[in-house]
Amino acid sequence: MEVRPDATVPTACLDPSQIDQVVTDLVSNVRDAMPHGGTLRVGTATVQGPIEGTSVPVGQFVALSVADTGTGIPPEIRAQVFEPFFTTQPKGQGSGLGLSTAFGIVT
Ligand SMILES: Nc1ncnc2c1ncn2[C@@H]1O[C@H](COP(=O)(O)OP(=O)(O)O)[C@@H](O)[C@H]1O
Ligand SMILES: [Mg+2]
Repeated sequence: MEVRPDATVPTACLDPSQIDQVVTDLVSNVRDAMPHGGTLRVGTATVQGPIEGTSVPVGQFVALSVADTGTGIPPEIRAQVFEPFFTTQPKGQGSGLGLSTAFGIVT
């Protein structure tokens, strides 16, 4: 696990328990995507909006990034991963609620 916080990011206004939930949802997906191990990278950075191709508006934002060396998300399902109950986990394992919850909180 590599954690690289950028010490120069401005203070962000957020609910600590909600950001805990977001990080937990993202890193549990990383665990699922790397059953044989790999590298998890978590970092922060300052970004300027607007960002083309996203809904990020004009302004300065703190970006929290979570990356892994696992299976990756196949391009054909990328449009669906934030939908509630969407999962590629075997029956009885994934709730399909991790990314939709994270998306709701971040939005
Ligand atoms: N880090 C990741 N690597 C590969 N696929 C991922 C990753 N994160 C999410 N996914 C894909 O997105 C789907 C939805 O994720 P999520 O909403 O957390 O539900 P769940 O983890 O219960 O399946 C996963 O089933 C998986 O297909
Ligand atoms: Mg999940």
